[in-house]
Amino acid sequence: MRQINKAARHTTGRLLSIRKVGTYFHLVLQAEGIAEGAKPGNFIALSVGGDQSSMLLHRVFAIYRSRQDPSHGAVIELIVARSGKGSDWLVAQSEGTLLKITGPLGTSFPLPADPVNVAIVGGGYGAAPLFDLADHLKARGCRVDAIIGAATSSKVFAPLEGKRTVNSVTVTTDDGSAGIQGRVTDVLPEIITRQRIDLIYSCGPMAMLRAVDDIARSLSIPHQVSVEEAMACGVGICMTCVLPMMRGDKVKMVRTCIEGPVIDGEEIAWDEVAR
Ligand SMILES: Cc1cc2nc3c(=O)[nH]c(=O)nc-3n(C[C@H](O)[C@H](O)[C@H](O)COP(=O)(O)OP(=O)(O)OC[C@H]3O[C@@H](n4cnc5c(N)ncnc54)[C@H](O)[C@@H]3O)c2cc1C
Ligand code: FES
Repeated sequence: MRQINKAARHTTGRLLSIRKVGTYFHLVLQAEGIAEGAKPGNFIALSVGGDQSSMLLHRVFAIYRSRQDPSHGAVIELIVARSGKGSDWLVAQSEGTLLKITGPLGTSFPLPADPVNVAIVGGGYGAAPLFDLADHLKARGCRVDAIIGAATSSKVFAPLEGKRTVNSVTVTTDDGSAGIQGRVTDVLPEIITRQRIDLIYSCGPMAMLRAVDDIARSLSIPHQVSVEEAMACGVGICMTCVLPMMRGDKVKMVRTCIEGPVIDGEEIAWDEVAR
């Protein structure tokens, strides 16, 4: 059984900036002791609602980027979608608010030893951690082609600096308001063939991850998936985040906050996921 990420720490960090990016919010948080150990794919848990709140459960967010800021030291950046009470509270906070943060949590994207051709496939805000990953892949000499999908143009997350990092960006939207009308999986097979893709990383809604994994399996391409199961504690205690995974020839329920969120697509028992 894996233990909680050994680099994980608790800290109280100041919200340094918050701005709107399409329908999302880009947050920069001071995270001394957390940002330094963060790797692409890790996430953090935040307490929401303030000290008197009835919202006892932490909310977890993928780390979009971690870096050293010349004025504020170690910082992490998040991309947050408003989707309930906790995220509504978070994005309503003003600069200077102090937040309780635990992280970095979970597994990170494993990096290839050789400079291979990589596709990163992101859905909605799930694209955010993939751009940090792309920086690391490029530093290893990999070619990186990004396929970014969303329901509509305001939900496409493809920042300018991220677009500059990768070799190409293909955008798809369900309603055709940006890029190609359709889904990421409509364009993925052609890109795999054209760019001779050796390895796929994906992050986004579960249905998208499964559809990408079907393609990856059919073409025998390794696929690393960042899953997003509901998490109530984020640190291995509550079991809300379990996902059916293959362990030998048996299916076992595994905590994705500890053994994930980044998992080899082959290990997930997709047929059992919806049950
Ligand atoms: C690994 C991971 C990465 C994520 N990254 C991002 C990200 O980068 N950006 C982003 O916007 N969102 C992200 N999410 C989703 C985020 O954690 C929240 O689920 C989402 O913001 C909705 O939370 P809310 O507080 O707004 O909604 P609410 O409806 O207030 O709360 C939903 C959250 O509380 C938990 N919860 C509430 N009640 C219960 C209960 N009774 N039992 C168990 N759990 C309960 C759920 O797990 C869920 O996380 C991520 C989730 C995971 C698992
Ligand atoms: S979120 Fe509680 S065990 Fe994983």
